[in-house]
Amino acid sequence: MTRVAIIGAGPSGLAQLRAFQSAQNKGAEIPEVVCFEKQANWGGLWNYTWRTGLDEYGEPVHGSMYRYLWSNGPKECLEFADYTFEEHFGKPIASFPPRAVLFDYIQGRVEKAGLRDFVRFRSPVRMVNYSEETGQFTVSVNDLENDKTYDEVFDNVVVATGHFSTPNVPQFDGVESFNGRVLHAHDFRDALEFKDKDILIVGSSYSAEDIGSQCWKYGARSITASYRTSPMHFHWPENWETKPLLTRLENNTAHFKDGTSKHIDAVILCTGYLHYFPFLPDSLRLITTNRLWPLDLYKGVAWEANPKLFYIGMQDQFYTFNMFDAQAWYARDMIMGRIEAPSLADMRANSAIWREREEKLADDEQMIWFQGDYTQELIDATDYPNFDIEGVNKTFMDWEHNKHEDIMTFRNKSHRSLMTGNMQPPHHTSWSDEMDDSMESYLQTK
Ligand SMILES: Cc1cc2nc3c(=O)[nH]c(=O)nc-3n(C[C@H](O)[C@H](O)[C@H](O)COP(=O)(O)OP(=O)(O)OC[C@H]3O[C@@H](n4cnc5c(N)ncnc54)[C@H](O)[C@@H]3O)c2cc1C
Ligand SMILES: NC(=O)c1ccc[n+]([C@@H]2O[C@H](COP(=O)([O-])OP(=O)(O)OC[C@H]3O[C@@H](n4cnc5c(N)ncnc54)[C@H](OP(=O)(O)O)[C@@H]3O)[C@@H](O)[C@H]2O)c1
Repeated sequence: MTRVAIIGAGPSGLAQLRAFQSAQNKGAEIPEVVCFEKQANWGGLWNYTWRTGLDEYGEPVHGSMYRYLWSNGPKECLEFADYTFEEHFGKPIASFPPRAVLFDYIQGRVEKAGLRDFVRFRSPVRMVNYSEETGQFTVSVNDLENDKTYDEVFDNVVVATGHFSTPNVPQFDGVESFNGRVLHAHDFRDALEFKDKDILIVGSSYSAEDIGSQCWKYGARSITASYRTSPMHFHWPENWETKPLLTRLENNTAHFKDGTSKHIDAVILCTGYLHYFPFLPDSLRLITTNRLWPLDLYKGVAWEANPKLFYIGMQDQFYTFNMFDAQAWYARDMIMGRIEAPSLADMRANSAIWREREEKLADDEQMIWFQGDYTQELIDATDYPNFDIEGVNKTFMDWEHNKHEDIMTFRNKSHRSLMTGNMQPPHHTSWSDEMDDSMESYLQTK
């Protein structure tokens, strides 16, 4: 029997499990599937941990999420087509749930499907090797609880280990003698730590926007946001200032590229993440920056040099959960022989077309339509339930518009579910006043 290893039980790995199970429910004979997960529970980044640095086994902590994190995009854009929020919560709920609510939703689908037995927890994959002779992969796994390492042989491997976990940490002159805390977004856990402090945020993407906003919400004295390429174009509150790139730190002073300087208590490096796969040899390892079309992946999923290996969720992400589903359904169908890999030349030619289009994208709106078209192409090729991708794109456009209108209130807006057609209710409390991010509070109707 064909054996498939899935590495990682975050939203991408769980999508892969669900894809196989959905085929089985329709009467297909599916391969034997084993999912290896490094952490004690599933959910990937959504499985919050207070830990930073190394965990209790000396493993690098995967989690990059923090307390009080609310979804940064409307939940209507990530909704599973085969498991709606309304099915899970029994009623429509507001559009920007806190982390715990999204974790519950992700977990609800796989619990309902009974997928827990497929996952071996506390099992980091240490190495994957491919044998040309046998045409199979040997996966070396560490069983942390029993402190044992073992090998198993698989016909296919799906890498679903995420790419927002290993921090990209640049060096700035004088940082070693700076008299305050310096941390990367990966290690940020609680904005209250920065109450009444002057905070410097380096970076101008989603982490910078959201961690800066959190610090503002929880009472930082001032936020200074330093950008390398271009600033974030939002209307910020009064105690928020934008600066060009940080050039050096000296005691408690930050110096910037335009010659100005400012008193700073703490620096949070929101400088992104590295695609990092220490368990893969060069011949199987994806090398890319965080972008919408990494090369070497046919249809964004199959490793062109050896299409028995798959990657899920390796793109930069506007679309998330339902795109991972589309990818997982596609990978499943390649593994099950329903979709054949074309020749290497044809796979590369196809990827080159996507890359060419990606390189011409001028703004977020075009990027969203690009990722929507990509998701649609995958869905059209499988039996994943079709959904209104144009509607999702338009919801993203409304979201972008709301953010530009007021970056501190966009989470108070409601959107319509593209799966059920129902307008979702507003949250009972505005985001900037709501200090309680528990699921109980979020689900309350006032
Ligand atoms: C701070 C932050 C906030 C975000 N907020 C949002 C949001 O609001 N909305 C949204 O849609 N997306 C958000 N995202 C994007 C996020 O990437 C996706 O939502 C989603 O978590 C990606 O799923 P994944 O399964 O690909 O990766 P991950 O969630 O990273 O899961 C990967 C899993 O692989 C496991 N793993 C890693 N290495 C190994 C190994 N060697 N062996 C075994 N297991 C391994 C990890 O333990 C983890 O469980 C956010 C990302 C970050 C960093
Ligand atoms: N609440 C939420 O839902 C939430 C919160 C946080 C993050 N996220 C998610 O997390 C993911 C990652 O976002 P991210 O912002 O961490 O990463 P990212 O989107 O990859 O952005 C990285 C940022 O770091 C900057 N940078 C990189 N190297 C630098 C250097 N040497 N000096 C200065 N700046 C540098 C980049 O600037 P350039 O433009 O110059 O390259 C860019 O602004 C996204 O999917 C996002 O949606 C979600």
